[in-house]
Amino acid sequence: MPDSSLNLEQSIKSLRDKAEASAGSIASVDDLEKYRIEFLARKGSVGQLFEELKSVPPELKPNYGKQLNELRAFVDSLHQSAKEKIESAASGEKKFIDLTLPGRVPAMGTRHPITQTLEDITAIFTAMGFGTVDGPEIEDDYHNFEALNFPPNHPARDMQDTFFIEDDILLRTHTSPVQIRVMKERRPPVRVIMPGRVYRNEAISARSYCLFHQVEGLYVDRNVSFAELKGTLVAFAREFYGNNLKYKFRPSFFPFTEPSLEMDITCFLCSGKGCRVCKHSGWLEVLGAGMVHPNVLQNVGYDPEEFTGFAFGIGVERTTLLRHNISDIRLLFENDIRFLKQF
Ligand code: PHE
Repeated sequence: MPDSSLNLEQSIKSLRDKAEASAGSIASVDDLEKYRIEFLARKGSVGQLFEELKSVPPELKPNYGKQLNELRAFVDSLHQSAKEKIESAASGEKKFIDLTLPGRVPAMGTRHPITQTLEDITAIFTAMGFGTVDGPEIEDDYHNFEALNFPPNHPARDMQDTFFIEDDILLRTHTSPVQIRVMKERRPPVRVIMPGRVYRNEAISARSYCLFHQVEGLYVDRNVSFAELKGTLVAFAREFYGNNLKYKFRPSFFPFTEPSLEMDITCFLCSGKGCRVCKHSGWLEVLGAGMVHPNVLQNVGYDPEEFTGFAFGIGVERTTLLRHNISDIRLLFENDIRFLKQF
């Protein structure tokens, strides 16, 4: 047997062992490709042995040819199964779920500070037995002024810079017109709050905006007294601002209440020493109130001899600025997410 044939037989055997051993260490797509190039590519080791077949005597060629074909099939199958192993490992990797990973926290929205104040005020009065009533933002002169005892051309109308839509139709300047609507619909006892948006044609500044919110309150029954009004307002303010709140009542004027008052609380910024926010008075006005004027009761068909009542109006923005120590009302309407997120 010529040398070359013997060598070839040896080479086939050792290549077979080598291919088998290195197939066992294929661990990645890279390894797989290196393996293919080393053994199976046209210039790879298997291919080189096929080259050597050319120098084998013709009568031995069929035998070695067969062995070489078997070798190639064997290395092919090693390559194939290594490939399958790697592919299934890769797809398994995608499906793998790490149950120990912490969950993703969904981005949560927050309620607008005005909404929070509205809801908190509402909750306090609900607990005191007040129901809640809604009214239209587009009002007529009758409900916004006339029925509330603002006579035509009365200077008190100037206190409210009104946005008119038509002669007689306007954006309500306060929530008090809802008092009229409720009283016209119901008989006493009436005990409701009326939260809502109101509009005033004022110069926009750090202290005032062209729209804001009020919570109107109304309690009408037999023998409702001024003392009950004060008690209700103090109970509300303590609940809302805290028990050690300092407050005072000041005489005031509204056409639809008599007597009328305004409630001040100690300035949150200077604790009453006097500063820019409280205009150096040490006090901040938080609401207007009073006993329902007999003319108003008459306008809605209640007998002022039989019934008395009180009403109040709380400024929601003012209250929100106070409780969060915010210095500019416009921040509440710009809706900058960075601002809103803080509440
Ligand atoms: N409506 C008044 C205002 O807008 C507030 C108020 C309400 C006063 C109820 C007295 C009673 O300023």
